[in-house]
Amino acid sequence: MKTIGMAMSFGILGSYDLLGDGRPWIAIQDPACTSKTFPKFFQALEALRTKFVAVAVDGGAASGKSSTAKVVAHELGLLHVDTGAHYRAVTRALLDAGARAEDIASVLPALAHLRLGSEISGISSVVTLDGHRPVDASLRSEDVNAAVSKFAALPAVRNFLLAYQRSQVALGQAAGFAGVIMEGRDIGSVVLPQAEVRVFLQADPVARAQRRAAEGQTDAVAQRDLLDSTRATAPLVCPEGATRIDNTHLPLVAVVAQVKALVQSVARPA
Ligand code: DC
Repeated sequence: MKTIGMAMSFGILGSYDLLGDGRPWIAIQDPACTSKTFPKFFQALEALRTKFVAVAVDGGAASGKSSTAKVVAHELGLLHVDTGAHYRAVTRALLDAGARAEDIASVLPALAHLRLGSEISGISSVVTLDGHRPVDASLRSEDVNAAVSKFAALPAVRNFLLAYQRSQVALGQAAGFAGVIMEGRDIGSVVLPQAEVRVFLQADPVARAQRRAAEGQTDAVAQRDLLDSTRATAPLVCPEGATRIDNTHLPLVAVVAQVKALVQSVARPA
């Protein structure tokens, strides 16, 4: 009990910006000692110590967004939000309701009945549909892969998701995360244009198709990219001021290190 109190007290003392540049000057050797009394103590402290940071990760299909965003979220205590999963969940629900992207009259009533929510699972915010978490395989099925870009091109669908996606920032703040890392196609350009860090991931199309095949998925990534980047509303673009990272030949750790350095350069004391 005494050790826990000491670790927490020194943690609070260490929050003082002694060096004047945000760098830590006290290291707690075993931060996990607070895991029973206050499991997220150091995460909560970090959120108070630094300003809440928003990180936008955009890029085409299979460009490494999820793998990168999840590791960065885990290592920096950020809330991970996968907006592709939002479009997939809405597509699943619309397909199940018999709607077709080509027939807006079939989409609007189905959309009006949809109730989206969020559950925090570890470091990620997970979308719920009418209070239920959709099974991941049902969001990555062949029919969803084939239809998602068509539904995502509809302004009605994008408007339906925009406020929900923006609300994830407040969710991360309320839950004590140090920031939010949101991945998608229009995050730095439309959803969070104020994001302090913007990253655009890319990789050559052959490498990306191989990644999906290795996951056992049937997914025409180049075709989805074409639809996503040529639609009129919020197309896939490299946002202004974004750092482009081509990861065709870069290991995940190297990409993560680059993104972490960008985040740490803006995450100065509040
Ligand atoms: O990231 P993903 O491959 O799971 O995304 C699935 C589709 O969702 C993608 O092809 C286009 C759409 N999408 C979008 O239009 N805007 C986003 N911010 C995220 C995804």
